[in-house]
This record gives sequence, structure tokens and C-alpha cells, in this order.
Amino acid sequence: MTALRSTRDLGLQPGYEGKVRDMFDLGDRFLIVTTDRISAFDVIMNDLVPDRGTVLNVMSLAWMNRFADLIPNHMITADPQEFPEPFSGHARLLGGRSVLVKKAERFPVECIVRGYLAGSGWKSYQKDRTVCGHELPAGLRLADQLPEPIFTPSTKEDEGHDENIPYETVVELIGPEHAATLRDISLRLYREGAAHALAHGVILADTKFEFGIIDGQVTLIDEILTPDSSRFWPADRHHPGQEPPSWDKQILRNHLETLDWDHEPPPPELPAEILERTALRYTEVLNILFPDESENWRQYL
Ligand SMILES: Nc1ncnc2c1ncn2[C@@H]1O[C@H](COP(=O)(O)OP(=O)(O)O)[C@@H](O)[C@H]1O
Ligand SMILES: [Mg+2]
Repeated sequence: MTALRSTRDLGLQPGYEGKVRDMFDLGDRFLIVTTDRISAFDVIMNDLVPDRGTVLNVMSLAWMNRFADLIPNHMITADPQEFPEPFSGHARLLGGRSVLVKKAERFPVECIVRGYLAGSGWKSYQKDRTVCGHELPAGLRLADQLPEPIFTPSTKEDEGHDENIPYETVVELIGPEHAATLRDISLRLYREGAAHALAHGVILADTKFEFGIIDGQVTLIDEILTPDSSRFWPADRHHPGQEPPSWDKQILRNHLETLDWDHEPPPPELPAEILERTALRYTEVLNILFPDESENWRQYL
């Protein structure tokens, strides 16, 4: 399938262009198109990773469908024939990477759940044995499983970097009832997602959810349990004390680290081999996690 850089290349005018998604504001709905752009160190690369947008989109939808009995989600349809004009006219190029969703009143919180020690959690643990205010046992190593998954929220900033916040700040921001709901459902979704992943030989180390209010109900929005919002590790290569390989931009980041590039635009040109290997990582983890649903998404790759 042709890689997509921007919906502008189809003659469309997105209202918002994120690092990965183009969004069209349709009043009480959004059309969200996941492109094949990829960023590293917060800089969007000039090169595309073919099928990446489709993998992110179909994986997120597969999880949302799986959890539909647990929590409502924002999805209206992923069938491009059912999109309004002019989008239905681009069904072939938008299919697989696009969803029509209900617009939510977004909670200004990123609901992060960590089941293993990695990334900023590992850094924080090494300093004072806590992660976002959770005290943890002594002697844990990088990539060790935590005694219990922990809820470690952060702010959702429109500009700049998100900031970790204690649970009490979530209560101040959105009230005690919504705070408890978001925490409990995030932990529940993490556990369910981690169990499904592990049954397929994959560790879900940590992940991030976003929620909003739609029709008065707390609703799952954005993307869920994708390699962009989560750390997935192959279980058979999990050796605490070492950084496990992960199904994300690691190949790209490792390549960029070998260059003399200051992580400021413009980005360097990427070798075809790095782009191909990165693309393979994304389709690989989708294949591993959702082999049974493959008839739903294989048509788009
Ligand atoms: N149903 C929805 N209602 C309102 N906002 C949404 C909904 N689904 C996703 N979003 C928002 O749309 C944006 C998706 O674009 P993305 O490129 O992922 O941006 P970001 O750089 O913020 O991650 C996110 O800001 C997300 O919070
Ligand atoms: Mg996003």
C-alpha cells in the first residue's frame, strides 16, 4: 500500500496535524487519519515508514473492540465507505488508517500504567526507590516486574512536555470520582492487555490511555495499546538487568544515536534499510498479538 505523508497530498485540509495524526473537525465528530510519519526525539523525520499508520490504527481498534464490554470507546466507524464526503471519495487511501469518532471532552490527564521498571520509571527508582510517588521494594533491576502494576498519571500538555503528577493532583483536576474511575479502569485495561499479550509471548511493560466524556459517560479515546503508546517486549528476551528490545522506534533511535545529529530539525535522511526494518517491527507485533483478527486488517497492508 502507498505510504501516506499527509492528507494534504490528497488535497484535504486537516484542522490539526499532530506528529502522526491528521485530524478533521466535523462538529461533534472527528475524522482521524494516522499517517506513516515517524518522529524521534520529538522531531518528525522526512522519511516515511510504510504501513506504520495502518498498524497503529488497526491495532488500537482491535483492542478497543476487545474491551467494548468493559468501557465505551469513541469509535463510530472505520469503514471508509461510511465516512462523510469528501473522505469517502478517498476510501482506498484512507481505509485501514482512519476512523470516524465521537468528539470527547478530553480529561487533561494521561493515564499511564507501569507493570515493569523501564524508561523514566527506572531513572526515578535509581534515585530514591520511588516511581511517581509509589514506594517500591529495594533491589529491583532494570526491566524487573513490579509487585503490582502502578498508576502513574501525567498532565496532558498541548505545548511542551507532559509532567508526572501525583494521584492527588488528578483528584484536584477532575474530581475524586472521575479520578478513581480513570485509575481503576486504566489498571484493569493494563491487566487485561498484559494477559492477552503474554499469552502471545509478549510483555506489556507499560502503557498510556486517554479518556474523555462522551454523552455523559467516561469513554476511551485516542489510541490504545499500540507500540507508540506502550512498551512491548518479547518475553523470551526479557532478562532483568538488561534493556529488552522493544517493538517501537528502537531501530530508528539506535541508528540516529550513531549519527552526529543534535536532535534539532532538520532531521537526517534515513537509509532504506532502517526504514524497512522499522516497518517490519510494526507489522510483526500486530501479527503476533492479533493473528485471529488478521482477516480484518490484512486487506489494508
Ligand atoms: N475522541 C476524541 N475526542 C477528542 N480528542 C481526541 C479524541 N481522540 C483522540 N483525541 C486527541 O487527538 C490527538 C491525536 O493526535 P496525535 O497525532 O496522536 O497527537 P499527540 O501529539 O497529542 O499525541 C490527541 O491530542 C488526542 O488527545
Ligand atoms: Mg498521540
